[in-house]
Amino acid sequence: MKLRLKLSRLTLRGLMVSFILNSTFFVLTIFLSGEAKGEKMIKLPKPETKGKVSLEEAINRRSSVRNYSSKPLTLIQLSQILWAAGGKRVDAATEASRTIPSAGALYPLEIFVLAGKVEDLKEGLYQYHHIDHSIELLREDDLRKELSRSAWGQDFLVQAPVDLVVVAEPSRTTGVYGERGERFIQIEVGHLGQNVSLQAEALGLSTCAVGAFDDDGVSKVLGLKKDLIPLYILPLGYRK
Ligand SMILES: Cc1cc2nc3c(=O)[nH]c(=O)nc-3n(C[C@H](O)[C@H](O)[C@H](O)COP(=O)(O)O)c2cc1C
Repeated sequence: MKLRLKLSRLTLRGLMVSFILNSTFFVLTIFLSGEAKGEKMIKLPKPETKGKVSLEEAINRRSSVRNYSSKPLTLIQLSQILWAAGGKRVDAATEASRTIPSAGALYPLEIFVLAGKVEDLKEGLYQYHHIDHSIELLREDDLRKELSRSAWGQDFLVQAPVDLVVVAEPSRTTGVYGERGERFIQIEVGHLGQNVSLQAEALGLSTCAVGAFDDDGVSKVLGLKKDLIPLYILPLGYRK
């Protein structure tokens, strides 16, 4: 009898501990998920894998555009371009199955979005998260003017409704490949730039690869951590 009482007390204690652990886990999960971050995490529309413009047409149409109309982008267009720039392949089996290749699948690149005119999106600075195809609002300011100033006054960066800034965290790749990793990162940003150019053309939009800017200036505009370096600016908009 005594033994049975002891056993049921132990079971009760076990149940209580498990309840407390489970509730803590649940609260932590909610806290760490997008829900706790409220409006700061914006889930993007699902990208399409079929379009109306052929790859050949997009290649043939692509050229650097430095004159943009003020027509805003839609969230669907922004979503599609970010996906092409480094999203997960639709229905891909693993995390490493993305739209751009990466040496050793180490993915050293990150994408920041300076949104000026996008329908249904607050102007501001966002970071793209490929895992759940979302953007995270980092600052509620239109930083395109500051970005243009850091790019030696290239004014089409203010005209374009959106500017993407591609940055690298070199240690992700150099940590494995040493000095050779530096080369890999430069190659990878080219892959990304080309995907953006062609996807933009396929959507009736244009870009211009911009590499002439002051690294420290751009880092300051974006508030980048010391271990991130900006590599490319890609404005997006309708050609005027
Ligand atoms: C790495 C790289 C950096 C570039 N940087 C700039 C730039 O800062 N500003 C600019 O107006 N164009 C820039 N361009 C675009 C080139 O000027 C353009 O690609 C070239 O004139 C060929 O024209 P197309 O792209 O229309 O074929 C850059 C292109 C590359 C590949």
